[in-house]
Amino acid sequence: MPLITWNKNLSVNVPDLDAQHQKLIGMINDLHDAMAKGQARNMLKPLLDRLIQYTVTHFRYEEQYMQQIQYAKLAEHKGEHERLTNQVQNFAQKFDSGELSVTIEIMNFLRDWLTNHIQRVDKQYTPQAAAAKN
Ligand code: FEO
Repeated sequence: MPLITWNKNLSVNVPDLDAQHQKLIGMINDLHDAMAKGQARNMLKPLLDRLIQYTVTHFRYEEQYMQQIQYAKLAEHKGEHERLTNQVQNFAQKFDSGELSVTIEIMNFLRDWLTNHIQRVDKQYTPQAAAAKN
């Protein structure tokens, strides 16, 4: 069973960005599945690296998009991306050093880390994105 299921509440109403968010959710679910199957650490690591890499790619893309629509809260949103990137990189470093294993707590952290950001921060640009389409 997937850890996160995409639903309308997670939509920002921008197709490219919704697709990227869905891909990120898929990556968290893959990591969760691998963990649930008891995969070894060396199998989890590439999945975690892929998630971090794509997170950074997504944040950059989204920031360019917000710049294009001249989003008023761009600086604030970028700051939040920086904070989230640091958080997940810090987590990956602890995983690398053996301080942490991928546990259900960590998976819940990643789930909340992503879904809270989409619902509380990303969705704030939706009205301006809709206006920019007109
Ligand atoms: Fe979709 Fe602000 O990350």
